Amino acid sequence: MSKQLLKLFPLSTQQHPLQGLYLTHRLNTLGSTTAPFVYANFLSSLDGRIALKDSVQNQPSYIPKQLTTASDFRLFMELHAQADCLITHGGYMRALSEKRLGNILQVKNEELVEWRCNNGLKPQPAVVIASANLDFPIPPSLRENHQDCFIATGKNADVERIRYWQDQGYRILFSGEEQMVQGAALIQQLKKLEYKSIYLIAGPKMLGTMIREKQLSRIYLTVTHQFIGGLDFHTLWSGPALTEETKLRLKSLYYEQSSPSGSGQFFMYFDVQQTLQT
Ligand SMILES: NC(=O)c1ccc[n+]([C@@H]2O[C@H](COP(=O)([O-])OP(=O)(O)OC[C@H]3O[C@@H](n4cnc5c(N)ncnc54)[C@H](OP(=O)(O)O)[C@@H]3O)[C@@H](O)[C@H]2O)c1
Repeated sequence: MSKQLLKLFPLSTQQHPLQGLYLTHRLNTLGSTTAPFVYANFLSSLDGRIALKDSVQNQPSYIPKQLTTASDFRLFMELHAQADCLITHGGYMRALSEKRLGNILQVKNEELVEWRCNNGLKPQPAVVIASANLDFPIPPSLRENHQDCFIATGKNADVERIRYWQDQGYRILFSGEEQMVQGAALIQQLKKLEYKSIYLIAGPKMLGTMIREKQLSRIYLTVTHQFIGGLDFHTLWSGPALTEETKLRLKSLYYEQSSPSGSGQFFMYFDVQQTLQT
């Protein structure tokens, strides 16, 4: 039997099965080619850590194992299953090739692939790789799964690297004035490609540009009831203070009491008010 969750908001006295919970959101139907639905998902500790880093040793940052659970991963994949396009980045491609992170570029669960096909989506989503330095490998799994793959970068990115990728047959989406990708320009490019449900599986920097440029429609957040600590860490988003308020509206909050073992976790999502008003 699927794990059961308590629904704390809107309050319900019934238990709700975890499996299928996010599939009921039908994210693939919420956007259009003129206004795609852009969503992100993060997993955080109660003290706000999404990853730890060790700047002294100059090691790559990592997600502490105790944060991750099968429940959270299942819901992550349900969100993945509803996307026609994923946005990732060059850093993830490097981590994947060095086996520092697992491959999340495909929906692997057969039941979720079937769900996609029954709901008007291709078996696997397209993938956009955002990168300023354009120095990363592309995993063979993208071609093996017939996924459209685009590279997003700024107009001032290295000309040689741009030519290298074009010679390999990849389309470059110029989406920023300098080397970095900017949220609004990227979503503009994805509208032209007619993507409607766009899942941001990148980290704090890409989330920052999406929020700053009012491109994020919804954020999913899992908060596990643990302190992680650490002097060097990533939170959802760092960077300069926002000049405009970004208000979020809580749409639902579920509580899993038995996972991670010995504590629990909240699954919640918020709609971003600014995006809804425009
Ligand atoms: N717990 C969670 O839910 C969660 C979620 C996401 C990430 N994380 C973790 O948090 C840590 C930091 O995340 P991250 O490495 O994904 O974060 P990041 O610092 O946001 O992104 C790193 C890479 O993304 C590319 N990039 C980011 N913004 C860009 C922009 N505007 N334009 C062009 N390229 C851009 C750059 O690639 P190039 O170097 O190729 O230019 C950069 O190296 C990692 O340990 C990650 O595993 C945790």
